[in-house]
Amino acid sequence: MAESRLDFIQPGHPLYEGELELRFRVLREPLGHTRASVKFPFEHDSLHLVLHADGAVLGCVLFHPEDAHGGRLFQMAVDPTLQGRGYGAKLVLALEDALRGRGFRHVHLHARAPVVPFYERLGYAVYGEPYEEVGIPHRNMQRDL
Ligand SMILES: CC(C)(COP(=O)(O)OP(=O)(O)OC[C@H]1O[C@@H](n2cnc3c(N)ncnc32)[C@H](O)[C@@H]1OP(=O)(O)O)[C@@H](O)C(=O)NCCC(=O)NCCS
Repeated sequence: MAESRLDFIQPGHPLYEGELELRFRVLREPLGHTRASVKFPFEHDSLHLVLHADGAVLGCVLFHPEDAHGGRLFQMAVDPTLQGRGYGAKLVLALEDALRGRGFRHVHLHARAPVVPFYERLGYAVYGEPYEEVGIPHRNMQRDL
């Protein structure tokens, strides 16, 4: 792979369509959901961190600030050909660094059940009862920064 970079972007950025395409392919298409389902109502109010190389988006993670101190990490995705090489962890750590710099102190997220160990390795803890979202079992997780 060409040298990859991590950058924060916003909707309208040249890499945004690539980000949406990755999110669709990795997080929505396997569940049989439509392309339209990939966008969240708070898309424009969120931070979008993308891993990219040669104009192609290879990974992403988003954060929606909910108050001055915290918010929700969502749409965590790594290109299937690159999973298991540390890129997902790198995205979360870079996001957390940026959040600390902006004064945030808490992050929560909705983890797909099979991915709970990925977030546990990164310091997140499960809370509350299991539930279903987008048709699959989920757990709520959180950490202090
Ligand atoms: C989940 C995902 C983002 C992880 O990214 P990744 O680049 O594959 O993960 P990394 O290589 O950075 O893994 C970091 C650590 O977590 C572990 N890990 C990653 N995914 C895991 C899983 N599903 N179960 C258990 N451990 C996992 C890795 O083994 C690694 O452990 P190590 O630190 O001991 O080496 C990626 O696999 C993905 O996009 N999956 C499909 C979409 C998805 O489920 N997103 C999350 C929605 S909540």
